[in-house]
Amino acid sequence: MTRQHQQQMHLGVLLLAAGNMVSGWRLPEAEAGSQNLPLIQKVTNKAEQAKFDFVFFADALNSFPGMHPSMVVRLEPLTLLGALAMSTTRIGLAATASTTYTEPYNLARMLASLDHLTGGRIAWNVVTGAFAEAAENFGAAKHPPHEQRYAIAEEFIAVVKGLWDSWEEDSLVMDKARGTFIDAAKLHVLGHRGKFFTVKGPLNITRPPQGYPVLLQAGASDAGINFAASIADVVFTVQQNKDTAIAFSNRLKAVAERQYRRDPRHLKVMPGICPIVGWTEAAAKAKLTELGALSDPVYAMKALSERMGTDLSAYPLDGPVPTLPPSTIMQGHAITLAETARRRNMTLRELRDFVGVSMGHKLMPGTPEQIADEMEEWFADGAADGFNLLPAYFPGAFDDFADHVVPLLQRRGLFRTDYTGHMLRQHLGIPRPEHPAKQFANDKDRLQQLHRRDA
Ligand SMILES: Cc1cc2nc3c(=O)[nH]c(=O)nc-3n(C[C@H](O)[C@H](O)[C@H](O)COP(=O)(O)O)c2cc1C
Repeated sequence: MTRQHQQQMHLGVLLLAAGNMVSGWRLPEAEAGSQNLPLIQKVTNKAEQAKFDFVFFADALNSFPGMHPSMVVRLEPLTLLGALAMSTTRIGLAATASTTYTEPYNLARMLASLDHLTGGRIAWNVVTGAFAEAAENFGAAKHPPHEQRYAIAEEFIAVVKGLWDSWEEDSLVMDKARGTFIDAAKLHVLGHRGKFFTVKGPLNITRPPQGYPVLLQAGASDAGINFAASIADVVFTVQQNKDTAIAFSNRLKAVAERQYRRDPRHLKVMPGICPIVGWTEAAAKAKLTELGALSDPVYAMKALSERMGTDLSAYPLDGPVPTLPPSTIMQGHAITLAETARRRNMTLRELRDFVGVSMGHKLMPGTPEQIADEMEEWFADGAADGFNLLPAYFPGAFDDFADHVVPLLQRRGLFRTDYTGHMLRQHLGIPRPEHPAKQFANDKDRLQQLHRRDA
């Protein structure tokens, strides 16, 4: 892809409030706490002042001692977005919700409500649930296998979109003189009976301001890439290497275009980066060493095992990284980490320490200029349409980026100096999906089909 269609990059921040790095919260200057609303609001406001596209809250549906400090206890993300809706005006607000352990009706309703509350600033990170332990919290005997999770997710999305379309745009008339509250002719009952879900509809809230909230996805397996290419507006990736990132982005966009007839310019690929800003390169590297020294090796091995899809704790630490079967948990991380270990000739101990610090994302320690240079290079060469920031700790690691790297990107014309729209779709430069009734207004057969779903 060339950059002709997109002059400026997009920026999001993964706000894991106890830090994205496992040891982040231990730094003296960190304000730890995943339940710390004032901290979360402070960082979100800072991201809005820096004109970020969105803040993002990840999630899992389980907890255990030794889990990532930002995940072991945390605020439920959709509830949190409700609070942030009231303390922000322009920035996009993104949250993870699982298609394996929620019902489409509930989730479609909550996301539509949030999109209305924010005037169209909501994004949903669609996950099939990377962590099998969640099953035990939902009365399920077993976490569904990888392929089946994606099959459920596909049907889930079709139902949710159908529910969001259940009211045409101007269906809420509220005509006092005539006593007409709604235009019932513009109401569509979904009547969905599928393999995994049975949902009649309609939804009890009108169509979200954005048509559909923005859909984020991070699929990296074959099934995941297919799914992301078919539905995602934004795709999170975990590449370490620019050439691999270009190849991944090209592959994803080619599948979107050829298989799903989508405009590839409307699919934004955003690799994760952990910027560590220093006034000198040595200062940035010293901060990285400090974070590394504070990270717990037992936890780091657990995180590596999760990311590789195999328990690696019994393998010799100073031996090579073993060749493993494909992961059924997070294939994207597993592929990237195996490739990184191979390229850098790493031992298992080195890979463990690398994950302990970076959680498998791309580390960018350096001066503001060095970080801006690398981001510019990835963007210009088509490895990224933007970046998902994973600051090591909050608020300092994020403030450093917002105060010193963002102005450089703005001076180079690579990032906006102000918002030009109000909705997240406008920040991202992706169109609002029209209601199917409008799309098919001149196609009587398709419109009839749409109404036939009402049966
Ligand atoms: C930036 C990023 C954020 C993610 N956030 C979550 C999350 O909040 N919850 C979750 O269960 N999985 C999360 N994942 C994992 C993905 O949903 C997915 O399981 C993973 O990328 C592997 O994809 P695959 O199943 O196609 O191999 C995230 C992945 C990335 C790269």
